[in-house]
Amino acid sequence: FGRSICLFNEKTGIPGKDNEGENIMGISIKLYDDVDTWKTVSFLYNSALKEVNTKLEILNDEFQHVHRYNPIEHIKSRIKSPESIVKKLKKYGYEVNIENMVNYVKDIAGIRVICSFTSDIYRIAEMIASQGDLEVLSIKDYIKNPKESGYKSYHMIISVPIYLSDSVVDTNVEIQIRTIAMDFWASLEHKIYYKFEGNAPAYISRELRECANMVSKLDAKMLSLNETIQQFSLSNEK
Ligand code: GTP
Ligand code: MG
Repeated sequence: FGRSICLFNEKTGIPGKDNEGENIMGISIKLYDDVDTWKTVSFLYNSALKEVNTKLEILNDEFQHVHRYNPIEHIKSRIKSPESIVKKLKKYGYEVNIENMVNYVKDIAGIRVICSFTSDIYRIAEMIASQGDLEVLSIKDYIKNPKESGYKSYHMIISVPIYLSDSVVDTNVEIQIRTIAMDFWASLEHKIYYKFEGNAPAYISRELRECANMVSKLDAKMLSLNETIQQFSLSNEK
């Protein structure tokens, strides 16, 4: 990996004097400065996002080809800002350095997969889990076990191999899978949460939980409606 690192270091114009190497993500990195190291790390996470995005697009296209139906409505991805990463490390009481960031912040690279129906969520999760080169590190099913807030979503932390010129680096990506309705609720709740800095009045939290129940009912109704429509078109084909 040394060679790829040099690519970044050359840009800084710092002469390649030998300093102590540091082991990050299983690769030995010669640190010149933190900005440089952050560039390298964010390059890896960006590559991981590209890999997983492509995988999801291929699965969606294949599904369309075979079943004439798209399980994925749309995909959003982001790299966590350095400010949020530092905030999270401090919250968990870790010293702020790149090594802790990589080891303890599992959602530096995040992908959100939005689908139409609850059934699509499990279909997509299964397709991801069965990809030979991806490793599922953890799963949190907030659909079967919603959060206290009412939050529903299916979370996976996976590890994806990034092939560099002379090494392979396993990189973590958080995948959140949810329906359009769950996403609508989560983005609104997030805005309210921030507005009140986590201390929303009790009645607002209550109303939000009520909305979350409505979202579940809506999702269930839409799913059964879709099943009826599909049976209808099947019997028409006969
Ligand atoms: P954190 O990221 O610190 O919450 O770590 P964690 O290990 O508890 O992860 P968890 O799987 O619980 O949640 C990670 C992400 O899910 C968050 O960064 C949010 O994007 C989303 N999330 C979790 N809970 C809520 C919630 O109550 N409301 C909303 N809007 N989003 C949530
Ligand atoms: Mg959390």
